[in-house]
Amino acid sequence: MPSFSSSGVSPQKQQHNARRRQLIRQQRKSLPIASVEKRLVEEVRKNDTLIVVGETGSGKTTQLPQFLYDAGFCQDGKVIGITQPRRVAAVTVAKRVAEECNDQLGKKVGYSIRFDDSTSNATRIKYMTDGLLLREALLDPLLSKYSVIVVDEAHERTVHTDVLLGLLKKVQHSRSVYANKNGKILPDTQDHSQYFTLKSPQGIKTDPLKLIIMSASLDAKCFSDYFGGAKAVHIEGRQYPVDILYTYQPESDYLDATLVTIFQIHLEEGPGDILAFLTGQEEIESLERLIQERVRQLPPQSSKIWTTPIYSSLPSEQQMNAFNPVPSGTRKVVLATNIAETSVTIPGIKYVIDPGMVKARAYNPVTGMESLIIIPVSKAQALQRSGRAGREGPGKCYRLFQESEFDKLVDSTVPEIKRCNLANVVLQLKALGIDDIIGFDFMEKPSRTAILKSLEQLILLGALTDDYKLSDPIGRQMARLPLDPMYSKALIVSNEFKCLEEMLIVVSMLSVESIFFSPREKLEEARAARKNFESSEGDHITLVNVYRAAAECVEKSKNANAKEKTMEKALNRWCRENFINYRSLRHARDVHSQIQGHVQQMGLNLSSCGDDMVSFRRCLTAAFFLNAAMRQPDGSYRALATGQSVHIHPSSVLFRTKPDCVVFNELVRTSQNYVKNLTRIDPLWLAELAPQYYATED
Ligand code: CDP
Ligand code: MG
Repeated sequence: MPSFSSSGVSPQKQQHNARRRQLIRQQRKSLPIASVEKRLVEEVRKNDTLIVVGETGSGKTTQLPQFLYDAGFCQDGKVIGITQPRRVAAVTVAKRVAEECNDQLGKKVGYSIRFDDSTSNATRIKYMTDGLLLREALLDPLLSKYSVIVVDEAHERTVHTDVLLGLLKKVQHSRSVYANKNGKILPDTQDHSQYFTLKSPQGIKTDPLKLIIMSASLDAKCFSDYFGGAKAVHIEGRQYPVDILYTYQPESDYLDATLVTIFQIHLEEGPGDILAFLTGQEEIESLERLIQERVRQLPPQSSKIWTTPIYSSLPSEQQMNAFNPVPSGTRKVVLATNIAETSVTIPGIKYVIDPGMVKARAYNPVTGMESLIIIPVSKAQALQRSGRAGREGPGKCYRLFQESEFDKLVDSTVPEIKRCNLANVVLQLKALGIDDIIGFDFMEKPSRTAILKSLEQLILLGALTDDYKLSDPIGRQMARLPLDPMYSKALIVSNEFKCLEEMLIVVSMLSVESIFFSPREKLEEARAARKNFESSEGDHITLVNVYRAAAECVEKSKNANAKEKTMEKALNRWCRENFINYRSLRHARDVHSQIQGHVQQMGLNLSSCGDDMVSFRRCLTAAFFLNAAMRQPDGSYRALATGQSVHIHPSSVLFRTKPDCVVFNELVRTSQNYVKNLTRIDPLWLAELAPQYYATED
């Protein structure tokens, strides 16, 4: 019988915990950042804005907030906020730091991301996504609860990071103005604690805001220039040598080349885990299946392979699998998107495979159309990727392209703000009371055409009035929803059409990648399974059918009083039988419950149109009228808003029927333009339901 101590924790467990704490203490002490703690804290005290540059793994994200906490930056209940471009980084780092503090997650250390908040009133070190902090600014424009805000991974230059930098500059300025209003000027070198009692016009106590911009690569200068010559400090990294290998010939199929390289390493190289960079969920999942097939052909005595995926839209607890150790004698193969470039550190990686591609947003400011394309990485990205192999010892990086190709890569990635639809950004800024978008102090200004185009789109969606002011209530409601403006509008419109329930499902399902999956070896079965859900009206209703069938399966096990775990198991089985991607579906269910909370708070009614699919299709038309396309005599389509020639993606249920007129949600560019997620509509509805855009011909 096991013996227990009075605390209810077995002595073995206690011993294990003590060992783990000891190990963590040692790890922390050995990080490059540990030796400069005093100096860093001093620099933060002296400078209102500080740029911190350091190699990935030097301890910036996990350690600096703890240093600041220990140095008293959370006195008076203030919070240190650290923003991340990616959800998974916010979650994993918060968990790690809570453990380092020997505290439960959600107490002193917590995270907050779009559909998941672990923080409490006690939280003083808060990791969050940059998008989330932007939303907080809607409610508290001075971000008054924060004493320090750390913008992490700033080199990624996501659109949220760029907007946040501009906003924080403004907030910092306002807060020091309020602080100065008391008649005292604050030289940079002073301790600001004496100003803690000042009140902003809203009656909230404010003190000057400390800003720290952290970046992995060496573009400190542009951040420093943007913040008026802010001081930059560099932290030495610890990097072992990495052997870089190129292919002799160009690879026509990088997925296949990745597969071959994985097994080459597995069979010929010594121990060490593999990290392969792919472009998205679909690629990762198909490679995962290919690996599993190939593993079965290995001789029985060969060591095992354990694959684990990691990409942003994977539910957090499944992302955590990539961090778990594997039994000895097993090789871990992590299949990741560029999420693993800098955001997260996965222990044990010795081999990196880099096909040199990345999925990126692209935007045509003239047509106002955003699309996803797969493009070559930048040099900075390729270097960052190879660096992941040398974290714990010497490593190897297999670049699946020729050395001459490397020289042709662009130096660094174009900031996302210059290649995406700005409607969301503009709406957020308007909601923050920033009216002059063209005059906004962006680190890199998007083109005037792009800004004007998004203003025009927001007027068409009814979010802005004709004189570019945020409309009330529509614009205000849209800004509050954590969704793309077109989806927010869809929810609001569906309330009028009494089909909010259906639209909520559609928006949730469209927020995740690939609901259906079709393994190569079971294409026919997968196709047959999908037939059960298919609607001849299009993909949106098909998605509603899938969601409802899944919900029914959960309901059934709920009625049988099944436990949470059993219910999940039943859903997993149902998904497998129906060739539905379980991970995606779970994510969609999460998103659904979150957005449902939002729309209910907004006072919208969860009404359903029942079997009246005409009504629902009319609603889809009213919501997505900007994305309408008409069939041309040659069987291709013309997008009405842009005049672009597009084709129906083979994954659509309308691929064969080719109706006269459709609305769509996504444009993908490969060899040609494909539209995905379509519904058949009556072209006459356009003029009727979106007269602001489609004038009727007399
Ligand atoms: O931000 P930076 O890349 O400089 O480093 P970090 O994220 O603070 O990570 C420092 C070290 O903490 C890593 O090298 C890991 O050893 C450890 N760490 C971990 O074990 N688990 C995490 N989720 C994050 C970090
Ligand atoms: Mg970091």
